[in-house]
Amino acid sequence: LPLLGLVGWRGMVGSVLMERMIAEKDFDYVEPIFFSTSNVGGDVPLINGQVLTKNEKKLKDAYDIVALQQCDYIVSCQGGDYTKEVFGQLRNAGWNGHWIDAASTLRMAEDAVIVLDPVNRSVINQAIVDGRNNWIGGNCTVSLMLMGLGGLFNANLVEWVSAMTYQAASGAGAQNMRELLNQMGALYQSVQDDLNTPSSAILDIDRKVTQTLRSDTFPKANFRNTALAGSLIPWIDVPVENGQSKEEWKGGAECNKILGLPAFRQPGSIPIDGLCVRVGAMRCHSQGLTIKLKKHVAINDVEQILASANDWVKVVPNDREQSEKFLTPAAVSGTMQVPVGRLHHLAMGPEYLGAFTVGDQLLWGAAEPLRRILRILLE
Ligand code: HSE
Repeated sequence: LPLLGLVGWRGMVGSVLMERMIAEKDFDYVEPIFFSTSNVGGDVPLINGQVLTKNEKKLKDAYDIVALQQCDYIVSCQGGDYTKEVFGQLRNAGWNGHWIDAASTLRMAEDAVIVLDPVNRSVINQAIVDGRNNWIGGNCTVSLMLMGLGGLFNANLVEWVSAMTYQAASGAGAQNMRELLNQMGALYQSVQDDLNTPSSAILDIDRKVTQTLRSDTFPKANFRNTALAGSLIPWIDVPVENGQSKEEWKGGAECNKILGLPAFRQPGSIPIDGLCVRVGAMRCHSQGLTIKLKKHVAINDVEQILASANDWVKVVPNDREQSEKFLTPAAVSGTMQVPVGRLHHLAMGPEYLGAFTVGDQLLWGAAEPLRRILRILLE
């Protein structure tokens, strides 16, 4: 069996990846080798109560280039700093196995392919023919938008997109998910007695909540000293140029690359831009989209084009009850479905389409494209 090196399998994305790989029986096709940055020589993990390795029972050193070189495939969820440190050394040592990575470090490199096979299988197929071997998962927001809207892009109907995002705490990390819940708890505790008194005044309760939100003891270290619960954060990641945050820049840069189009802002590319906002959802990113189509397309046709694009997108009729029930983080969290709804023509003109989509940031937004490219390469 081919050797698969796994790095960063213990973290949040790595753990979701392990669960998905077990569910899809990916380990039947490889001999996994578990690498570690913190517990070299320790026993391989029990995952779902199972030892997944067939021969190697100890954890290997994730910085041991010679050991990594034995692998036919390496999947890393360890993060960008690890990729920066190890990837170049490994390639310079002559390793030409397949590197599969969740981190953004290599994403825009010319010889790297951003993988999202339900959307860009033809780009992947060509890259395989060309002998490429660097396969990088896309930014979660980008991948989730394309899982929802891929049909319109592949039908060449999109002139431009403005994406306004509602991004979950998970995108900031496991500690941020905990902190969001601690914030919710702190807010609740500050007014618990008033809430239990039916005659209490709501404006008094609100005043106490606002005081708590602004207090020095409110748990907010992980969110850069800003409240997320009971509030929102209209900036994600570092500033880049043109007033954009890096998360916003990724929308245009990565979408065009995934679709195999000319680079963002070059002729023939699709302008994709908007504002990325963190909200108090746990692990689903949502996006409100304004789409300028190249021509008027009837909503029935839009729905059909979207629904037939892949097995996971689900068109939700533009109806209040169904939107409330199916087009929410609460409904989608932990599932593979990517609902898209609120589809209607906007007041700006007949080519303007409104849409809303929701997807699990850890599944299609991170882990799933990685295990799928592994299976494609193993075929
Ligand atoms: N950058 C994303 C976020 C997560 O902050 O939500 C990783 O793609």
